[in-house]
Amino acid sequence: MNVFILGCSGFIGSNLIKYLLNYPKYIITGFDKNDSKINEFKDQIKFIQGDIQNENGLIKEIISDSDVIIDLIAHANPIKYIETPIEVVDLNFSQNLNIIKNCIDHKKRLIQFSSCEVYGMTGGDHSPVIFNEENSNLILGPIKNQRWIYSCAKQLLERLLYAYGKSGSINYTIIRPFNFVGPKIDFLIKNEEDGCPRAPAQFISSLLYGRSLKLVDGGKNYRTYLYIDDATRAIKLIIDNKNGLFNNEIINIGAPNNETRIEDLANLMIDLYQDIIGKNFKHGVENVDNLDFYGEGYEDCDRRIPDISKLEKVGWVPKYNLKETFRQTLEYYLKNNTPLN
Ligand code: UGA
Repeated sequence: MNVFILGCSGFIGSNLIKYLLNYPKYIITGFDKNDSKINEFKDQIKFIQGDIQNENGLIKEIISDSDVIIDLIAHANPIKYIETPIEVVDLNFSQNLNIIKNCIDHKKRLIQFSSCEVYGMTGGDHSPVIFNEENSNLILGPIKNQRWIYSCAKQLLERLLYAYGKSGSINYTIIRPFNFVGPKIDFLIKNEEDGCPRAPAQFISSLLYGRSLKLVDGGKNYRTYLYIDDATRAIKLIIDNKNGLFNNEIINIGAPNNETRIEDLANLMIDLYQDIIGKNFKHGVENVDNLDFYGEGYEDCDRRIPDISKLEKVGWVPKYNLKETFRQTLEYYLKNNTPLN
């Protein structure tokens, strides 16, 4: 099966390729701006380095030779939604729309990565709403809260795909990932000025480089975390698409039982870290205001629990609990970095 992965060198792409390479039936072509996360197995795929905004028709050509196209190209980091909202819409909507149109032209199956972020908030009161692909409302804050621009761009892309699918123009599957975590997530920051990755990478950086773990507004909101190996197993099922089960479907991928408040996650990560290295972490946690941390325009998703019944029907369930998920992740980083504190 010829699989074309756009955005192959990101966190999800690199872990997905590593997993798919265990199965000789996949012939993988990957496209990305750089190869830093896939260096170790780059020679086992056809890697094309390029920029999606300036690729001179190459993408169209590869799509025409592929059986399935997996679009992972995205800016999926909240600081970007606030600092560069227009760039976020250009990449997450306009560029992805071009890929959709190419798939339509060549009658190719598309697996489009979207986001749990499309669900937005539960209403902002931490109610334990379970987000279902078919029935849940998508609740976003006001326009001035630019955090929601990414969610809105992804939602419009999904709505277009749905419309194209209904008119018979394309066979697609939309994936909504719920906070995947594991090796190679985002990037680490030695100093606070070096950038603003998502919470797991922030916390790992703080642990490794000896800083307090920052809790935005006290870390009172919830997330569910899924270990990346569980995620890649689910994505493979969607690629294989036995009996066409995932044709024109939206699929949540997440771990409803791995829910934690961010504050509790920070403390769990400190405990795990101390346990693994056998030393005390002396910097602890620190509360920060969202305005100081992200700047104007931030508003948070209060809670998001996925309904995973569509995947359960094909026998998939997450294998890693919350503790094991973060133990595996921290062990990877501690094997590859020496803590400075
Ligand atoms: C992000 C993206 O916006 C989603 O599109 C994506 O689907 C999701 O990650 C994902 O990984 O699946 P979010 O969960 O809000 O969404 O990303 P984080 O930056 O990791 O924030 C999680 C929570 O931790 C938020 O409450 C945030 O305020 C808090 N946080 C973040 C901290 O308390 N400290 C930090 O250092 C960073």
